[in-house]
Amino acid sequence: MENKIVYLNGDYLPLTEAKISVLDRGFLFADGIYEVIPVYQGRLFHWQAHLQRLDDSLAGIRMANPYSSEQWLALFAPLLDASKDQYIYLQITRGTAAKRDHAFPENTAPTVFIMSSDIVPVAGKYTGIKAVTLTDSRWLNCHLKTIALLANILHRQEAVDQDSMEAILIKNGYVTEGAASNVFVVIKGVLLTPPKSNAILSGITRDVILELAAKNDMVYCEDVISLAELKSAEEIWVTSSTREILPVVELDGLAVGEGKCGPVWQAMEQLFQAYKQSLL
Ligand code: PDD
Repeated sequence: MENKIVYLNGDYLPLTEAKISVLDRGFLFADGIYEVIPVYQGRLFHWQAHLQRLDDSLAGIRMANPYSSEQWLALFAPLLDASKDQYIYLQITRGTAAKRDHAFPENTAPTVFIMSSDIVPVAGKYTGIKAVTLTDSRWLNCHLKTIALLANILHRQEAVDQDSMEAILIKNGYVTEGAASNVFVVIKGVLLTPPKSNAILSGITRDVILELAAKNDMVYCEDVISLAELKSAEEIWVTSSTREILPVVELDGLAVGEGKCGPVWQAMEQLFQAYKQSLL
């Protein structure tokens, strides 16, 4: 295991020395939230939006944010390496109580953990990936970025078992999102993504793509996507902070469009990379 330096509850220490109690509510109940922030050459990408979502997730599970934005940025700084692309993973749990009890403990300090990891380019980024559709078995608070990811994990593993990289989740006949990503499709030349709701995580990459589409006069719409529409789409993409914009070229064993990366993806990929460069 790479013994990098991580942050845990006020200290910077080697990963192998970072330990929490077995009574931590994150361990016992998955009672916590997390964030993933890309860092390109030492610069945090859209950190304001990520810290806003952190605030929203904390409020959604009735926890206070232990730090101000300035304090978070100061905590990240020693973990960053300007010579590469990384992402910050941060997790806050409701802390360690004296005993296991579902109800919130009183006066418990949160557990705060932060680490950085290298962004590893995804195999298939320029050739496209395979995805499968699965019934979305998750709860009604998917807009909160909680560490309770068991349903997402089972969906993703089901995709991997079917030799695919991502699961596209379907709820009541409509696309919600990927197991760890948002979904875009191109239908009759129009770029579509499901609207924000408690059925999806409001992805920061998703927002950036919509802003770039608007600025560049691309035809786009936030609207529901039925399973039938997904299956007949010219292009499908899945998007996230760690994987950026991945074109799906095979869905449930069938070619998407012409079975290769589509022209709208190519245009958006160029805009996205140029935008990233402009922020460095
Ligand atoms: N996941 N939806 C889900 C369920 C996700 O887990 C993610 C990202 C997204 C995309 O959000 P963003 O563009 O802000 O990364 C949508 C992260 C990367 C993870 O769990 O590692």
